[in-house]
Amino acid sequence: MRETADISFRTGDPRIDTHDGAGLDGCVNQTIDDVVDVERYLGDRWDDTVAWARRELAVTGCCVLSGFVPPGLHETLRREGARIAPQAYFGVETVNVYNTDPDPTLPAGHPAAVTMERGNAFVARDAIPPGAIIEQLYTSAAFRRFVADCFDRPAVHELADPLAGLVLNVVDPGRSHPWHFDTNELTVSLLTQAADDGGVFEYCPNIRSAGVENIDGVRAVLDGHATPQRLTLNPGDLQLFKGRYSLHRVTPVRGRTPRHSAIFAYSEQPGVLGTVSRTRQLFGRVAPAHLAADRLVRVDQLMD
Ligand SMILES: [Fe+2]
Repeated sequence: MRETADISFRTGDPRIDTHDGAGLDGCVNQTIDDVVDVERYLGDRWDDTVAWARRELAVTGCCVLSGFVPPGLHETLRREGARIAPQAYFGVETVNVYNTDPDPTLPAGHPAAVTMERGNAFVARDAIPPGAIIEQLYTSAAFRRFVADCFDRPAVHELADPLAGLVLNVVDPGRSHPWHFDTNELTVSLLTQAADDGGVFEYCPNIRSAGVENIDGVRAVLDGHATPQRLTLNPGDLQLFKGRYSLHRVTPVRGRTPRHSAIFAYSEQPGVLGTVSRTRQLFGRVAPAHLAADRLVRVDQLMD
């Protein structure tokens, strides 16, 4: 089994160059062939995979590419995550599904008034070493092209955020990630270590849209009056998800093994940064870039 440090970028791989012919956002071409099951999903299968992913996303807002990182690399994937997991910022906070501050002017019964305890943690992007499998994927122009194609977007961009963008989500035993919406429209994640038990991803496909909050529907989920979809994810599975519109959570982790997953956040416009308050909430700190750009580039008017 190869150590990550041995996996280096190559340039000019024709399987990557020929996919859009547009220079892949002008980035240096990097191959992800060494860390992805190319035969199953990319290469000659690219168009079929994209067509299938688009269908899945259209119907459920979610698509899972099992074994996207092939089994031979799962131990490396797990070990790389476990090595940086101690650097996660752990916090237990009281949140609502929108991650907004309490608003006493909201009507009774509004889901924003329902508070939950969030007890998970994120390893920030600046703690994820170059060369790690998840870092290779996130910074790959070919992977970005693939993600954009699957989501049927002209392009996607890495966040311009020094802490968010690529993070490792750590959910320790006894912890969970309660119901929430993502800030980003498109979410891409990869499980690197599964929990012994629990830690199941649950979601409510397209429960809201860019123009409709659907507070009654969201409230029904919080009250336990709706049945979410449940997804069993395994290490190496790539999940494409529209987390801005689909309420979702990770159920409590049980057993002894923490659940680790890499979250690859992309935006449709370049230059996106998290807000100061959200960044401090997630990482316990902010970078100078957050202070300089105190607003998030938004494409909608949703609460958050
Ligand atoms: Fe999320």
